[in-house]
Amino acid sequence: MLRKLLLLLMLCIIFMTRRSKAAAAPSASQTLIWGPGLETNIFLPARFFFIQTVDSTGRNFTTSPGEKTFEVKITSPTDPYARIWIQILDRNDGSFLVRYRMYASYTDLHVQILLKDKLVGKSPYVLKGAVYHESCDCPEPSGALWEKNMHCPASFSQIESDLSVFPSVDPDHNTHEILKRFGKRHSLCHYTIKNNQVYIKTHGEHVGFRIFMDAFLLSLTRKVKVPDIEFFVNLGDWPLEKRRASEKPSPVFSWCGSNDTQDIVMPTYDLTESVLETMGRVSLDMMSVQGHTGPVWEQKISKAFWRGRDSRKERLELVKLARANPDMLDAAFTNFFFFKHDESLYGPLVKHVSFFDFFKYKYQINVDGTVAAYRLPYLLAGDSAVFKHDSIYYEHFYKQLQPWVHYIPFKADLSDLLEKIQWARDHDEEAKQIALAGQQFARTHLMGDSIFCYYFKLFQKYAELQVTEPKVRDGMELVEQPKDELFPCYCARKKVRDEL
Ligand SMILES: *[C@@H]1O[C@H](CO)[C@@H](O)[C@H](O)[C@H]1NC(C)=O
Ligand SMILES: *[C@@H]1O[C@H](CO)[C@@H](O)[C@H](O)[C@H]1NC(C)=O
Repeated sequence: MLRKLLLLLMLCIIFMTRRSKAAAAPSASQTLIWGPGLETNIFLPARFFFIQTVDSTGRNFTTSPGEKTFEVKITSPTDPYARIWIQILDRNDGSFLVRYRMYASYTDLHVQILLKDKLVGKSPYVLKGAVYHESCDCPEPSGALWEKNMHCPASFSQIESDLSVFPSVDPDHNTHEILKRFGKRHSLCHYTIKNNQVYIKTHGEHVGFRIFMDAFLLSLTRKVKVPDIEFFVNLGDWPLEKRRASEKPSPVFSWCGSNDTQDIVMPTYDLTESVLETMGRVSLDMMSVQGHTGPVWEQKISKAFWRGRDSRKERLELVKLARANPDMLDAAFTNFFFFKHDESLYGPLVKHVSFFDFFKYKYQINVDGTVAAYRLPYLLAGDSAVFKHDSIYYEHFYKQLQPWVHYIPFKADLSDLLEKIQWARDHDEEAKQIALAGQQFARTHLMGDSIFCYYFKLFQKYAELQVTEPKVRDGMELVEQPKDELFPCYCARKKVRDEL
């Protein structure tokens, strides 16, 4: 009996090691490849697609098969010297994010993914026709076609809700009213987009942040014909419109919304810039985070982590809490600016920690700063579980997030934070699932394609509400498209536009 059992056990072991050996080899034919970067008309500053490693039995890899497993080549048959910068980011979970940025436009781009010289999936993927680069001024004349090409969702609940308090929008009236109410004490940009040209007049002292909005509007109008619109952007941190829906609020676009205001929210300047400057000026963006998530879940430290500055009272509480409970929570200030720095209460300032190193910890604390903490998209994109502060402030995507699915909620006064951290420690598998769901959310809703869709949808819906003609007002100046003299683009769509 015992011998039989032993034999069975041995057979089992042999079978299992065989299987795991077979499972360890990625398969070129089974491996999955998908994403917007494989489509000509998903015109983004940096294009991207995903690789999910699959073995010959059809099983997904859940750990990295090795950073250098795949090779990616992107070529153009018409241009042997195509200048395309490619990065393969290992997401450490069996999948890769491949991104590329082009410095010129090309025809019939061929994307080849190779596994030891074997073509993977259905590669080469051919992006037929003209594939435009970021600085190419080549708007698609039909907004509807552009949205279809981009696979934009039919609606965004935040846009519906923000615009629901404005049965109509009167640019003539707003020009007068918004400037009278907010123009003196706040920093505002008054924009008109007319015939897909961007015009601006700034109001107030601190208008430096207009560069983010200018850059985005120029990028959008290079990609699609935007309806004629006239609107005001609030450049300050706080949302402005405190009138209730019944009190004739004025439409003001802001980067942050709140439960107490009626501002129309847009993706934050931070997220927007990171989309425009991916593989450019910024190093922290929604893609780079996914390639730097540190150790796998099981090897992460089972503590909550936070670094930042003292821009809200609750942050002081958070650091005090950490000092009293160092085994659960590692939170410290890298900067003191708003409050008096009492070292006996808040400890010394600590050295800045690279954002990528946050993900050495299983739990990430997102607590408001001046307004919503604009780091939430990047925290979600990592592979730690995010703890989110209940707050009156929100960004454009919060409405789509669900507590206990995408994040672990904690109270505005932090009174249940330790309890929630303990819960996560006691429910490791659930916490891991929340981390994964948050990451999946970021992948589907917060990448460049979604950000472009959101803005376009917002402008389009807003344009539909206008009851007077948007105008280029006195004192407005044209925001010019930068000249790309090195790599001019030959826009096949231009003719169509010029005839319009
Ligand atoms: C494998 O990964 C792909 C891509 O994420 C996913 O769509 C698919 O459902 C996964 N398959 C299994 C069996 O989990
Ligand atoms: C703000 O509003 C949301 C949605 O109605 C709610 O869930 C949240 O608790 C509110 N937060 C605060 C601090 O009032």
